[in-house]
Amino acid sequence: MDGNGRWAKAQGKSRQYGHKIGSSKVYDVFKQCVKLGCESATFFAMSSENMLRSDEETEYISLLLKSSIEEHFSDLLLNKTKFKVIGDITKLPDDIKQVIKNAEDKTKDFTDLKLYIAYNYGGQWDILNAVKSLVHKNHAITTENLNDYLSTTDDFPDLIVRTGGYKRLSNFMLWQSCYSELEFLDKLWPDISDHDIKLIFDQYLNTERNFGRIKK
Ligand code: IPE
Ligand code: MG
Repeated sequence: MDGNGRWAKAQGKSRQYGHKIGSSKVYDVFKQCVKLGCESATFFAMSSENMLRSDEETEYISLLLKSSIEEHFSDLLLNKTKFKVIGDITKLPDDIKQVIKNAEDKTKDFTDLKLYIAYNYGGQWDILNAVKSLVHKNHAITTENLNDYLSTTDDFPDLIVRTGGYKRLSNFMLWQSCYSELEFLDKLWPDISDHDIKLIFDQYLNTERNFGRIKK
């Protein structure tokens, strides 16, 4: 979800305002994805590197995370949506961690839909964590075992969409993206529309995926 800051600047508003509007789009976009047949989506809110921004900005974004979980919690339950935050949230204030934990605990057994938020997440962090867990538990370092210990637990994205105009992954799911389709939109995140998502999905559905094998 790139482009909140540039979007706000273009309106003569603060970066915080951009994040507020950007955050308010997440659940709508998720619902549109579900409507088009997607069962699992992860929204990349903050990378490990984004956390090096000012305290003012990172604290504001953490409050947006808390309030948006509170706002949509009943809908998550109603629609049997498993919710999870992936990333290192150990340094978040206790009240925010509590809201996250409560939403995760109460939705952990749902299997119909999955909504994950990546916060203080890095693909390198994810891989390192998985390897450390394997070593700690004395498990063999194999592809299958490593998959099990990633924060996504064996769930690889079919499609990764980045808004904001840059063509890079910025430390997002480096292991899991091995065969993901990649889509880069020139639009800034707060401007993304249902129509954009429909076009992206249509294009994805028309893409032949061979996973490196020869077509039969
Ligand atoms: C949102 O966009 C992504 C977050 C890290 C919250 P940015 O904050 O990166 O916005 P730009 O790229 O400065 O426009
Ligand atoms: Mg950016």
